[in-house]
Amino acid sequence: MKEKILEILKESKDFVSGETICKEFGITRSAVWKSIKSLKEDGYNIESYTKKGYKLIFSPDHLNKSELKPYLNNSNFVKDILYFDSIDSTNTYSKKIATEAKDGTVVIAEEQTLGKGRFDRTWISPKYKGIWFSVILKPAIDPILVTRITQVAAAAVHLAMLKHGFNTMIKWPNDIILNNKKIGGILIEMSCELSQINYIVIGMGINVNLESSDFPEEVIDKATSLRIEGSKVVDRKILLADILNNFEILYKEFLLNGSVQTALDICKSNSSVLGKDIKIIHRGNETFAKAIDLNEDGNLMVSYEDGSVRPLYSGEVSIRGLNGYV
Ligand code: BTN
Repeated sequence: MKEKILEILKESKDFVSGETICKEFGITRSAVWKSIKSLKEDGYNIESYTKKGYKLIFSPDHLNKSELKPYLNNSNFVKDILYFDSIDSTNTYSKKIATEAKDGTVVIAEEQTLGKGRFDRTWISPKYKGIWFSVILKPAIDPILVTRITQVAAAAVHLAMLKHGFNTMIKWPNDIILNNKKIGGILIEMSCELSQINYIVIGMGINVNLESSDFPEEVIDKATSLRIEGSKVVDRKILLADILNNFEILYKEFLLNGSVQTALDICKSNSSVLGKDIKIIHRGNETFAKAIDLNEDGNLMVSYEDGSVRPLYSGEVSIRGLNGYV
């Protein structure tokens, strides 16, 4: 109910009377008052006068539905937004609800207490400082094609960053890099049968307004945030909406004709690894090769010292440049 009341307050530039809200939702004055009280506790500044009613003065920097929706494409891609002040991990939660959830459900949290990265690494996710969210998708495609969607996700983030003035690079398969440090990551998990997907969960984490002190010492030379690199606070809701809007456009291209050419072109021209000598790490073993291309499935084509050229599959390997992390 409080989300609905918030929407009415947002739509109106002036006071909205308690009576109007009661009539609109068929609720009592005391129910209205309770919702207003709860919104105030959430950080909304709402002026209230007995005779005039309620007026929204200030909205906090939160990523809930009412804050996000005005910036989302006017389409039906995002079917549901589930918002949490704190959660263990949006990916873990999404997997729990995926079977019942609608295709296009977005799970957003202000904080993750057990945020996960690839290879079971911890993903630090402090409150109100980043964008931590997952998208649940249920495309009727062969599971083998999911690698294409990883490139869609990376390209969507890159384009959104560019719009906000950050010229990020993509380190295959889907690390987002700024000034040689990691600024964001994507964790894709799925449940499937032999030839059919039950669901895909695309988790994205973007270090937006974290300060150096938010990063543990062991990652400070590898990870950074937009705030640190750009010396300014970035509006998280607009950035998140831009990522979702870009994702929708690139994903629709894929649903329409199976190809992710636009996303691949973006990933190729902004790759931090293509054309470089790399180290491939697979279950502790290191191999040296050169990254030469992305194939149509979004796999990295590498050329080995023996002259052979083969695709790398993202699920199992991690790669490094020869000079440091990127
Ligand atoms: C990586 O680079 O290793 C992937 C990081 C993915 C982090 C995001 S934050 C939202 C979602 N929930 C998680 O627990 N992980 C992903």
